[in-house]
Amino acid sequence: MIGVGLIGAGFIGRNHFNQYEKLGQRAKVVALCDKEPQRRAGDWSGVGGNIGDAQGTKRDLGDIKPYAEWRDLLADPKVQMVDICVPTYLHPEMSIAALDAGKHVLCEKPMALTVEACDKVLSAAAKAKGRFMIAQCIRFWPECVYLKQAIDDKRFGKLKALSLRRQASTPTYSLNDWILDPKLSGGAILDLHVHDTDWALHLLGTPQTITAQVSKRNGSPDRVHSLWYYRPDLVLQIEGFWDMPSAFGFNMGFTARFEKAAVMFELSNGKPLTVFKEDGSTETPTMGPNDGYFNEIDYFLGCIERGAGPNVSTPGESREAVRMALLEKESAKTGQSARV
Ligand SMILES: NC(=O)c1ccc[n+]([C@@H]2O[C@H](COP(=O)([O-])OP(=O)(O)OC[C@H]3O[C@@H](n4cnc5c(N)ncnc54)[C@H](O)[C@@H]3O)[C@@H](O)[C@H]2O)c1
Repeated sequence: MIGVGLIGAGFIGRNHFNQYEKLGQRAKVVALCDKEPQRRAGDWSGVGGNIGDAQGTKRDLGDIKPYAEWRDLLADPKVQMVDICVPTYLHPEMSIAALDAGKHVLCEKPMALTVEACDKVLSAAAKAKGRFMIAQCIRFWPECVYLKQAIDDKRFGKLKALSLRRQASTPTYSLNDWILDPKLSGGAILDLHVHDTDWALHLLGTPQTITAQVSKRNGSPDRVHSLWYYRPDLVLQIEGFWDMPSAFGFNMGFTARFEKAAVMFELSNGKPLTVFKEDGSTETPTMGPNDGYFNEIDYFLGCIERGAGPNVSTPGESREAVRMALLEKESAKTGQSARV
């Protein structure tokens, strides 16, 4: 049984907590740190989010040790793995300290707000005895795994065009609205859209150039549209925004056009992933039972159990996802394509 210390009991920390409960005997949250007294006592009634459980509840944390200071949690010998679910600007400092303390570390995305900070985390990970992974849940999302397999095994022929989208109402659920401050979150590009820069790299590798357009509100990027150039016969278009009216909620989706079929998924319409064939028929392949949040934690626990680093989502790839997002910002600023 792996003893887990969870830092941050907000939107995603609460989600991860629920996943550990489903994982049974393999892992147990033994310590929980949040700087907010109610949250570290299990009162999550004020915690919201845009995907998964709509609203938090009060939880009985039983024998889970509460910590007000995250460095004290790191010193707890019962904690073998640290799960970092705090605002993004804190990720590098906490990841490095937890790795230096000899813990296994799962940290929420993005790895950091700059490439330089990512590189410091990578150096700490390279000399650490613990395993390290950024929680890139999309790489583990059943529909996304299906698309990756279809691209790799060419069951529908070659991929010709792909569009990825992540669309949301303006987030109003983060504690003290830290997410709307670009110095703390990087805005919609590094918070929301970075899921797709990471996923695009996973699906198709590194592009040659990137061209992007970005909109801002109150100085914070809230919309990005980008084109990644690989080769003349492949189009990759990505859009990510959180400027939608409040009633919109959240959607993620993709449309993939292969030589012999098109594959489409739209989370918000409630329909299953659908394959549209050239003969006019459609297919709805069966997906795995668990979402990407469960699967990523399940996978990382497996890495610890096997004594091997992750190879589905490596720290180096998570660094590249940040670099691509920052190249998009650069392209938007200069009005030129950015060479990768
Ligand atoms: N993978 C996903 O789909 C997904 C979804 C949401 C958020 N995230 C990521 O998770 C991270 C957290 O986002 P969130 O939406 O859960 O934010 P949130 O505001 O809902 O929760 C953050 C929690 O961290 C706590 N915290 C802040 N500073 C702390 C400190 N110094 N010590 C201890 N606790 C501290 C806060 O009190 C709060 O409870 C962000 O990096 C975000 O990008 C990922």
